[in-house]
Amino acid sequence: MVAPLRPALVFIGFMAAGKSTAALEAAAALGETAADSDALLELELGESIQSYFASHGETAFRAAEERLVCALLERADGGVIALGGGAVASARIRHALQRHTTVLVDVDLGTAWERACGQDRPLARDHATFARLYAERAALYEQAARAVVPGVGDPALVGRALPALQAVPDGLTLLWATSASRDYGVWIGDDAARRAPWPAAGRRFVVTDETVGALHGDLAGDAAARIAIPPGEEHKTLQTAERVWQALVDAGATRGDHVVGVGGGVVGDLAGFCAATYQRGVPVVHVPTTIVAQVDSAYGGKTGVDLPAAKNYVGAYHQPAGVLVDPRVLETLPAAERAAGYAEVVKTALIAGGPLWERVANGAPVDAEIVRACARTKLRVVAADERDTGLRQVLNLGHTVGHAIETTTGYARYRHGEAVGLGLLAALRLSGQEALRAQVEELLEAVGLPTSMDGVDPDTVVAATARDKKRVGAEVPFVLVHAPGDVRHGEHVEPDAVRAAVAELAH
Ligand SMILES: NC(=O)c1ccc[n+]([C@@H]2O[C@H](COP(=O)([O-])OP(=O)(O)OC[C@H]3O[C@@H](n4cnc5c(N)ncnc54)[C@H](O)[C@@H]3O)[C@@H](O)[C@H]2O)c1
Repeated sequence: MVAPLRPALVFIGFMAAGKSTAALEAAAALGETAADSDALLELELGESIQSYFASHGETAFRAAEERLVCALLERADGGVIALGGGAVASARIRHALQRHTTVLVDVDLGTAWERACGQDRPLARDHATFARLYAERAALYEQAARAVVPGVGDPALVGRALPALQAVPDGLTLLWATSASRDYGVWIGDDAARRAPWPAAGRRFVVTDETVGALHGDLAGDAAARIAIPPGEEHKTLQTAERVWQALVDAGATRGDHVVGVGGGVVGDLAGFCAATYQRGVPVVHVPTTIVAQVDSAYGGKTGVDLPAAKNYVGAYHQPAGVLVDPRVLETLPAAERAAGYAEVVKTALIAGGPLWERVANGAPVDAEIVRACARTKLRVVAADERDTGLRQVLNLGHTVGHAIETTTGYARYRHGEAVGLGLLAALRLSGQEALRAQVEELLEAVGLPTSMDGVDPDTVVAATARDKKRVGAEVPFVLVHAPGDVRHGEHVEPDAVRAAVAELAH
């Protein structure tokens, strides 16, 4: 019997994402040579892609590319291949990719343009055409990719991701996360917690809350101990952390073991904090079970607890060893929690712009695709700024006022997501984005989220914004929206404008 051809690792992505470099790195690590479809095409055509484009036009180029790439993919038996940026536009090539492990090298539009312009690439001569192509191809890349690695120009990154890239289980997507302190895999799809390669060594000490424990107690497989805390933000405290530390001691957890947080953002933040501090730090694996956690809080390594005076005031950065995301567990989420999570989806979509914003703005339900796109957005931001010194602050969109509302209402009246929804409306008012504010208000209302607040004193909320952790000196910097996909941090806002934007919510 003839052995079936082995899948190749095929790198795809937009112009200047770093596909060829990624393929070279992977090939070097595997002791193979990388095939680069653009280089092979130039050999076959006997001239450069630029000059072939100029003399024969794009249609002829695409036909030649399709022939060559299909042949390459059909006969590949293992190995590493980099494809030209436009190859995935061909349905035949997308079909041929199906038996391979297709890895998207992810790059944002601004970085791609910076790298590509001035290189005499035929499709990178003007920004408008470049941006249109970027938007057109984004969905094609996403559909074709089994794995996504960030195109951050780190020469060793693909080597670190390689074992995970070579073993992505069928039906799961792997997002490779990178940050200054560590890399890790995020596996998304049905049954991810059982089917993905377990990302940490030693025994598993599960921290969950009583509700999630009853519904999804066995999600993380065999555990040495299961520690259930009472559900709710009011339990994200040092007292609960102490209970968890003590339970870890009682169960005999050592530095060779790890914590697994199975639950929403409260469990994730608290379990992560306990892991960061228990015996000066053991690994944590997150298995997020709410929308908030699956689209946002499980990634990026921020852990901590609340103090009575302010949210998340005590904590540590502790990147997870891995994140296992099964969007099907969201089915048991109560409607109010689902709605609260939706506010974080709207926030993330405003930050991302592009296809994610379009889907959300058109009222798409939160499904695996939206979870994946939100996770990618968050991972991209964290890759650029782990410690919140710059870009990462855009993730705080809607949170300055949102946190202040939570604090002044003792974390009891509004869910985190509900407060963020109100905060988003205030931020859009401060951004002078009337039409967008109305659109977001409609999206929030459609899922039953509050768009105004009763019995909350705006002055108390404004005073609470002054305790925001992002405060620099006397000034609280705001995150403002210039357009979907163009969200900026560190913006100055007059105190009167803040008061007016909050007062508008209180009617
Ligand atoms: N670390 C970060 O970067 C970050 C980012 C955003 C939010 N957060 C934090 O996340 C927290 C909010 O997270 P949350 O909204 O997930 O709240 P949560 O963890 O309190 O979960 C909400 C409720 O849903 C229940 N639940 C969870 N999963 C369920 C499921 N699958 N089925 C049924 N019920 C389920 C929980 O028991 C809880 O009662 C806040 O403390 C916030 O500060 C952290």
